[in-house]
Amino acid sequence: MRMVIDTDPGIDDAVALLYLAAQPGVEIAAVGTVHGNVEATAGARNALQILDVAGLADVPVAIGAARPLAQPPTFAEFIHGADGLGGHGVELADGRGTVEESAAEQLVRLARRHPGELTVLAIGPLTNLALALLLEPRLPALLRSVVVMGGSVNAPGNITGQAEANTAHDPEAADLVYGAGLNLTLVGLDVTETARADAAWLDRLAAATTPRARFASRLLNHYATVYEGLFSEHIVTLHDALAAAIAVDPTLATYGEHVVDVELRGTHTRGRTVVDLRPYRLAGQDQTRPPVRVATAVDAPAFLDRMAAALL
Ligand code: BDR
Ligand code: CA
Repeated sequence: MRMVIDTDPGIDDAVALLYLAAQPGVEIAAVGTVHGNVEATAGARNALQILDVAGLADVPVAIGAARPLAQPPTFAEFIHGADGLGGHGVELADGRGTVEESAAEQLVRLARRHPGELTVLAIGPLTNLALALLLEPRLPALLRSVVVMGGSVNAPGNITGQAEANTAHDPEAADLVYGAGLNLTLVGLDVTETARADAAWLDRLAAATTPRARFASRLLNHYATVYEGLFSEHIVTLHDALAAAIAVDPTLATYGEHVVDVELRGTHTRGRTVVDLRPYRLAGQDQTRPPVRVATAVDAPAFLDRMAAALL
């Protein structure tokens, strides 16, 4: 499967990339970065480093949107560290750099070159995808599928009490993307929070000696320390890695088909996904917004086993 990864690396983004790099059936055609956990430029440097560790130094990395469509950017260094990798970045080989085009331009170009083939894994705010839809309105027909880590159905938020970070970092972009008619799967906090890696899983990773395991372990130790401060438990939630695993094997999760909007005006709820869970539509109400596939449950043990196998 040919994939484009749209990301704001980010510790769980890094784990997602390392996981995909170890999947024999996956070709990462390109990576685009976006504001989110860190600035898009810093995220691009991180992506290059992660790809180097993963043995994918030839994958092009494009810098994407520096800011959301309609609000100032905010970052999540309090979770991912000032550099986005918990202070554990690696030296880049000489000559490694980003490509000239933007992440949205790169995505549109590849979608046109490979119609019906690309799967987009979007594990940051959705600004690049929204811009790509504006550049190329045929994108829903050109892409095979889109898997998004974002939002939550019934769970509380994480970046605010109500909103999940990727959706809240650019609510207007997310609202556009969720309603665009893409073949879209949403992997939200309801499922990612049920698939946490515990101390025993982290210890197993820490004992492994491959370069990618040592890199992942250093990053996840930082992440676990932050989580310990929040939850008083030595655990991590691998949000983006779960979305990556579901993109590779959708049978890991179960789904509902729902119309998903994003709250754009709420004083306390801006950036929250609003999921219509009714099993019916009422006559006279707007029926035009297409539904998306929303992950509702996941096989957490299978996911964590696969993740360990890919990282060790
Ligand atoms: C999402 O927000 C970011 O901090 C993570 O990398 C993940 O993509 C989780 O809400
Ligand atoms: Ca992310």
